[in-house]
Amino acid sequence: MGAVLMTASPSAAEDVVAVRQADMKAMAAAAKTMSGMFKDPASYKAAEFRWAADAIRDRSGVVLSGHFASEAASPQSKARPNILEERDRFDRIANDLRDYAVALAAAAEKNPGPMSAGMRMKPGEAMGGGPLGTHVRDEQELSAMPAEHAFHLMLQTCTTCHARFRME
Ligand code: HEC
Repeated sequence: MGAVLMTASPSAAEDVVAVRQADMKAMAAAAKTMSGMFKDPASYKAAEFRWAADAIRDRSGVVLSGHFASEAASPQSKARPNILEERDRFDRIANDLRDYAVALAAAAEKNPGPMSAGMRMKPGEAMGGGPLGTHVRDEQELSAMPAEHAFHLMLQTCTTCHARFRME
C-alpha cells in the first residue's frame, strides 16, 4: 500500500502540473484571440469570440482551484507554496476570472453580427477595478460594462494571481 502510494503520487503530481499548465496556455491563447478582435473589430466573429470566452470559463473557477488543491511536488511547477495558505484569496481570483469569462460569452451572444459600439470602451473610460481591485462586485455592474472593459479586468485577474501565486 505504502509503496503503491509512493510510486503513484509523484507521477500524479506531475500530471496535475502538466494539466494545469496546459490549461493556462489554452487560456492565454483564448485571451489572445479576443484581444486581436478588440484591436481589429472588423475581425470580430461572434462564434470564435464565444468559443474563446467559453474556453476560459471552462478552465477557471473551481476547475482552476481544483488543479491547485495540494502542493505539487514537481520541479516543473512555478506555483508558489502560499496558494495553500491563502486558499480563499486564490479561489476568489479564480472565481472572478470565471465571472469575467461568463460576461464575455454573454456579450458574444448579444452581438452575433459585427462588434457593436456597446462592446467597446469609450475613450477615457476608467479602466481600474476601483479600490477593491479587480474583484467583481456585482453581476449587474459586470453585465452593464462594455465587453472590452470586462476583458481588461479579466486580464488583470491573470496578472493579479500570477503576481502573488506564481514564481518569477
Ligand atoms: C487564481 C490564479 C491564476 C489565475 C486567475 C490565472 N493563472 Fe495562470 N498561472 C497560475 C499559476 C499558479 C501558474 C503556475 C502553474 C505551475 O507551473 O504549476 C500559472 C501559469 C500560467 C502560464 C504558464 C504555463 C506554463 O506552461 O508553465 C500561463 C501562460 C498562464 N498562467 C496564463 C494565464 C492567463 C492568460 C490567465 C487569465 C486568462 C491566467 N493565467 C489566470 C495562476 C493563475
